[in-house]
Amino acid sequence: MFDITKIRADFPILKREVNGKPLVYLDNAATSQTPQQVIDVIVDYYHRLNANIHRGVHTLSQEATDAYEQARIKIQKHFNIAKPQEVILTSGTTHSINLVANGFSSLLKEGDELLVSAMEHHSNIVPWQMLCERTGSVLKVIPMNANGELVMEDFHSLLSEKTRLVFCNHVSNALGTINPIEAIISASHEVGAAVLVDGAQASPHIKADLQALDVDFYTISAHKVCGPTGVGMLYGKEAWLKKLPPYQGGGEMIAEVTFDKTTYADLPHKFEAGTPNICGGIAFGAALDYMNSIGFETISSYEAELLAYATEELLKIEGLKIYGTAANKTSVISFNIDGIHPYDIGTILDKLGIAVRTGHHCAQPIMDFYKIPGTVRASFSFYNTKEEVDVLVAGVERAKNMLL
Ligand code: ALA
Repeated sequence: MFDITKIRADFPILKREVNGKPLVYLDNAATSQTPQQVIDVIVDYYHRLNANIHRGVHTLSQEATDAYEQARIKIQKHFNIAKPQEVILTSGTTHSINLVANGFSSLLKEGDELLVSAMEHHSNIVPWQMLCERTGSVLKVIPMNANGELVMEDFHSLLSEKTRLVFCNHVSNALGTINPIEAIISASHEVGAAVLVDGAQASPHIKADLQALDVDFYTISAHKVCGPTGVGMLYGKEAWLKKLPPYQGGGEMIAEVTFDKTTYADLPHKFEAGTPNICGGIAFGAALDYMNSIGFETISSYEAELLAYATEELLKIEGLKIYGTAANKTSVISFNIDGIHPYDIGTILDKLGIAVRTGHHCAQPIMDFYKIPGTVRASFSFYNTKEEVDVLVAGVERAKNMLL
């Protein structure tokens, strides 16, 4: 059963103080914390295994290679991906999306259309704008409503035989909305468009079955799922990954190099030039093991309780408005208080040991939609507690009293 005291004991950082107060870490959507089980794997790697992979015949290199490739299999199994070669290890979601956007440069032509949701992180907007500049393709936006939900009728009207690609996050980082990606994927496929889903914010809450979703590309970052920064995944259907040209040239991604011509390695190595984040990849696998040992159903039902409690308590504060009120959302609450800048609230909360993110959350179009400069975002994880929600609510009340 879910034992929150035992779970919290796995995270050494949760014992620390900030500004003389116990840390209340509510910036999990920016990065999750790291349990001792994953820290141990990182330390063990540098104690025992450190070597370059896929290159040496020596024992250390082979052992490090095995551990890295086992991590790829763990990631494959976690997302129910058909083949390990469909798992490309990248430096994170931003790298994954840029890899795909770069690859489509040679596959698109002037007048092709790309659809992007109105609630994307900049990393799922800017690479496509750059692609449109290179190819003459046109980027169109699937609008959202005031609750922070996509307007699906408009999505269906925007789709046409000109649509080549559709991009959408599984969960919005700024609002927590869980998007109807199943419907988006199937409708897009009907017109022959490929779909890339940014799964970065879904991955700590939802275990996506990528074969069942039939999605063409799916991206995540390990640091959202209790793993380290600097490593992530691009899933691509094998047929697409074979079609896309390599993103970076260098060691390990080649079959043969001469000064006349280079041929490329098979998947996944074609997209993995250079020495990768070996320790990070191994720790990524360990992080998924850790989260699976708790179980995603347990995690999401506990987080739903925290979300409901925090929403109810925060809304008791007069003048507080929550942005992102979709029926289907993860444990993220973006809010403002009338007449107060979000940075001011965030600064006072920090003095009280409470970590939240403030600002536009790398999602400026969402802030423009609501005509606000930014929000205060509290994002809850399975290791947070109702007592921490109470500390947050008291902190926000205090900030309000100081600032108004
Ligand atoms: N994309 C991360 C966030 O939403 C960094 O905070």
